[in-house]
Amino acid sequence: MIVRPEDVDPSLIDLATRTVPRYTSYPTAPQFSAEVGPGEYAAWLDAVGGTNNPVSIYLHVPFCRSICNYCGCTTKAALRDDPIRAYADVLKEEIGLVGARTGRIAVSHLHWGGGTPNILPPDCMAELVELLSKTFNFKDDMEHAIELDPRHVTQDGMARLGDLGVNRVSLGVQTLDDQVQKAIARVQPLAVVEDAMRAISQAGIADVNFDLMFGLPFQTETSIEATVEQAVRLAPSRFAVFGYAHVPWMKSHQRLIADETLPDASARIAQARLARRLLVAAGYEGVGIDHFARESDPLVAAMRNGTMRRNFQGYTTDGAATLIGLGASSISRTPSGYAQNLPDNAGWQRRIRAGELPVARGKAVDAVNRIRGDVIEAILCFFEADLAVIAKRHGFPVDLFGQDIVRLLKEMGTRVRIDGWRIAITRDPHETARLVASHFDGYLQSNGRYSVAV
Ligand SMILES: C[S@@+](CC[C@H](N)C(=O)[O-])C[C@H]1O[C@@H](n2cnc3c(N)ncnc32)[C@H](O)[C@@H]1O
Ligand code: SF4
Repeated sequence: MIVRPEDVDPSLIDLATRTVPRYTSYPTAPQFSAEVGPGEYAAWLDAVGGTNNPVSIYLHVPFCRSICNYCGCTTKAALRDDPIRAYADVLKEEIGLVGARTGRIAVSHLHWGGGTPNILPPDCMAELVELLSKTFNFKDDMEHAIELDPRHVTQDGMARLGDLGVNRVSLGVQTLDDQVQKAIARVQPLAVVEDAMRAISQAGIADVNFDLMFGLPFQTETSIEATVEQAVRLAPSRFAVFGYAHVPWMKSHQRLIADETLPDASARIAQARLARRLLVAAGYEGVGIDHFARESDPLVAAMRNGTMRRNFQGYTTDGAATLIGLGASSISRTPSGYAQNLPDNAGWQRRIRAGELPVARGKAVDAVNRIRGDVIEAILCFFEADLAVIAKRHGFPVDLFGQDIVRLLKEMGTRVRIDGWRIAITRDPHETARLVASHFDGYLQSNGRYSVAV
């Protein structure tokens, strides 16, 4: 059934168009500063090395063959392989610098993101995996995931990734509509995605996520319906459905998308709801604000038993307290705080070549950050949070949240229910969770501009 824009409650449109952070971390990136540099991060890594807890590793590959008009990721176009090979060489040095501090710690999750990680020449990728496995200790059941652009998936390439131990992939599908694909400069007909799925299956990889998008230029509920139906027929185990974040003041290539071709707020809400309804009808379980997974997917179990987490890659079963980010612009999270690498490739390379950890900025986390971060994460993961339980876990009096609750009730009214210190979102949780979470963000007053909440 089509959800029409007129079905969307006007008060929801008002709430959903407030600009709020995505809360893939807390504190959020605008709070990062030069107070954290290589010295601080080195000490944090030393501390991580002193524990027996497994860590996650994220490797950023900031290259694509061409740039899609909507892209909000940190990436650059590279037509030749030379800069990619040079980047991979420096990544090896960065792995050495980090490993020298942590020692051979256990790794539970390894994630390649981008950009387009499958742009790495096969020998570079194999050398990087070999070095990582020697520097760190890959757990036997390690999740080894990679983001793939279907236009660059080949049967040989997938077989090689399978041989390297990749066991989970995410395909950027976005939309299967011709007109929308042309408007976003990403022409990728259904047959390309079908071929990619065949190659993935032949490589023996069963865990596949599709990224889909709504709110793209010329997108309509009719085209969303057709895309979701075609995508469901290919039977991935997971979907992530992202609202297009139009931030041309930050990503200048997005100016190639004319404002008047973009669906308005009520159409965006209707598109997201339609995608959600179709995916749920097709047997996928809704997970958090924008993920969907088959019942058998471990993400569903993690959601149900309360262990699901939210990090820079979205919702995850990854419970590691430390995420080591490698590559230009990558963000690391340790129990002591966040550290972000230099965003520009040249600066990142120079620092590493000089033998220094390439950290540009970050944020040390204190006890109040941790407790607020837990509340925000619980709201984004489960649409509810028991503030008393969280406060107790951190050894804080729960009335720390007294003012937040007053402001929350004032703004959200009956959209939230409060029993004692337990808060739950009662209406439109997918559209309002970021906004509800923002009431527990101690820095919100000084925050910059973000994309809209839906
Ligand atoms: C690094 S890309 C995925 C891998 C590969 N580069 C590709 O595009 O197929 C990560 C995902 O972010 C999402 N994305 C990119 N730009 C976005 C934007 N401006 N707003 C919302 N989501 C966006 C897309 O769904 C995309 O698949
Ligand atoms: S969406 Fe993916 S392929 Fe397109 S420019 Fe961004 S990172 Fe590259």
